[in-house]
Amino acid sequence: MMNLKLIVLTVVVITLFSCGGSTPTEEKTTEVKVEENAAPADPMSDKGIGPIKSIDITADVNTAMATEGEAIFTAKCTACHKIGKRYIGPDLAGVTTRRTPEWIMNMILNPVEMVEKNEIAKKLLAEYNAPMANQNLTEEEARKVLEFFRTKN
Ligand code: HEC
Repeated sequence: MMNLKLIVLTVVVITLFSCGGSTPTEEKTTEVKVEENAAPADPMSDKGIGPIKSIDITADVNTAMATEGEAIFTAKCTACHKIGKRYIGPDLAGVTTRRTPEWIMNMILNPVEMVEKNEIAKKLLAEYNAPMANQNLTEEEARKVLEFFRTKN
């Protein structure tokens, strides 16, 4: 009888011990996750999510394209964006100095997935509390708007 009691006690102690042992491991996993989320990705190396994988804007601004881009911007974007001040969406002055051209075009062409999955876009949605609308621009139109943005830095 005495022996049995001892065995039961031993089992309880081991169980308690292993529970205590597993708690710090769980905490550690959580800490790592928080660190990953907190690590700010460099916005100028973030291309976003969408059809645009790589785009070269090292050439001088193409003024004809920029003029067409401005007309598209006025027709499809100014309901929410101004150049030079915050409105329903962010102020887009200087946007090409804070985002990659790929990110900007993917935000224009694929905003729903961007605000769902891209860290920068997620933060913007949280800040502006209104979703960026998909205005159904073609890639060519979005490229022209990007060219217009290059004249507003
Ligand atoms: C219905 C309002 C609305 C319309 C229309 C709209 N946007 Fe936006 N846009 C937003 C909001 C709000 C954000 C911030 C992200 C979010 O909340 O989804 C945003 C974010 C952006 C960003 C990222 C800005 C930054 O600081 O990184 C770009 C670029 C952009 N919009 C371009 C455009 C272009 C180009 C058009 C027109 C084709 C357009 N938007 C039309 C509301 C709009």
